[in-house]
Amino acid sequence: MTGTPEPQNENLTLLGRRVLLGITGSIAAYKSAFLARELIKRGAEVRIVMTPSAIEFITPLTLSTLTGKPVHSDFTENKDSGEWTNHVELGLWGDLFLTAPCTAATLSAFANGTCSNLLQAVFLSARCPVMVAPAMDLDMFTNEATLVNLKTLGERGVSVIEPASGALASGLEGKGRMEEPEAIADFVEDFFKIGMPLAGKKVVVTAGPTEEPIDAVRYLGNRSTGKMGFELAARLANLGASVTLIAGPVKLDTPPRVSKRIDVMTAKEMYEVTMEVWPEMDAGIACAAVADMRPVNPASSKLHRGDLTDEIMLENTPDILLEMGVRKSASQVLMGFALETDSVEESLKSAEGKLERKNLDFIVMNTLADEGAGFSHDTNKVTVLQKVNIHTETRIFELKSKREVAHDLIDMLSTLLIS
Ligand code: CTP
Repeated sequence: MTGTPEPQNENLTLLGRRVLLGITGSIAAYKSAFLARELIKRGAEVRIVMTPSAIEFITPLTLSTLTGKPVHSDFTENKDSGEWTNHVELGLWGDLFLTAPCTAATLSAFANGTCSNLLQAVFLSARCPVMVAPAMDLDMFTNEATLVNLKTLGERGVSVIEPASGALASGLEGKGRMEEPEAIADFVEDFFKIGMPLAGKKVVVTAGPTEEPIDAVRYLGNRSTGKMGFELAARLANLGASVTLIAGPVKLDTPPRVSKRIDVMTAKEMYEVTMEVWPEMDAGIACAAVADMRPVNPASSKLHRGDLTDEIMLENTPDILLEMGVRKSASQVLMGFALETDSVEESLKSAEGKLERKNLDFIVMNTLADEGAGFSHDTNKVTVLQKVNIHTETRIFELKSKREVAHDLIDMLSTLLIS
């Protein structure tokens, strides 16, 4: 069992945040290089999308060197091979899509749904929050058309980083110059802080399979990859929770911002570390596919062919989730999983039994009867049963990516955690 606390750097206030930075054709585009550097300095991962006219102000080479990533400006990546830039992928990648500087022309395109360059296509496909930092001459900024576009975007949830006042490229003085990179980075930081409703909450997540030794080299295990549990930990951490991730043997990196990861092998080890931390937690999610049985008296060396018997004696492992339910205080919230293989009706009955028996607030059921659900996929299809007083409420979700499922589940958990 190994504890691997993540290095926590107080200055990395944007650690783990993905910022998709849009740059448009304004003289302020040169400041975007400083902005990209500032965001990266604070821990963010930055990818850049430019409009064709932005390239006249600052080169993609400067920006790709600063970010360490290719810069995108065209629908086609490579005209000879026909390789295209996936604007949908870019739009899904970011936790935030920030266009800085944003010209009057791009503001208008965003407000009107125009799609005549890659940046505008990314805007239309972005699912993450969108922010713009306008930059233009003062008369353009106060023009009724620009003000209407800003109002429209504001009403649709786009955040506007107001331009600052000062000397403008036209020689005039007034409001219109893009805010300084440090101030924009502060704005981005504040934005993420506000989006942290779980700050101060402690949550333990178990994830992955367990391996129960037969001898020094053989074990009983299962095909869990740990992806679902790691996505849950990532989402909780992104919402500000302090997450302890207890992982069986998996090949996954610790998500950014997860406070502590403890790696274990067996159900017994997972049980011991979970019980140790559980009393101080506000919530627990048992997502691990824990082996229910383990070989009795595993051999400490490798058994040779002649030593292997026809039968392996098994015994029960401790039920971690059951014990968490037994020790659960009135304020703690507990979510368990149930992987079923029977018909939907039978599976629901079994999951409801587990909800009661293990004293849970939620049970997340998935059945292998549903295509795309279970261990080996990047997708999952879940039904969540929630105990509400003496009733059970059921919510059936569509087939989604495990990341999206994690969002749905943490939304449900949060309703109890922050009520
Ligand atoms: N679980 C656990 N410890 C175990 C076995 C299971 O914490 N030793 C947790 C899992 O993490 C999951 C839940 O219990 O959240 C349900 O696991 P599952 O194997 O579906 O249910 P069981 O209670 O073992 O019931 P059964 O095998 O009869 O379906």
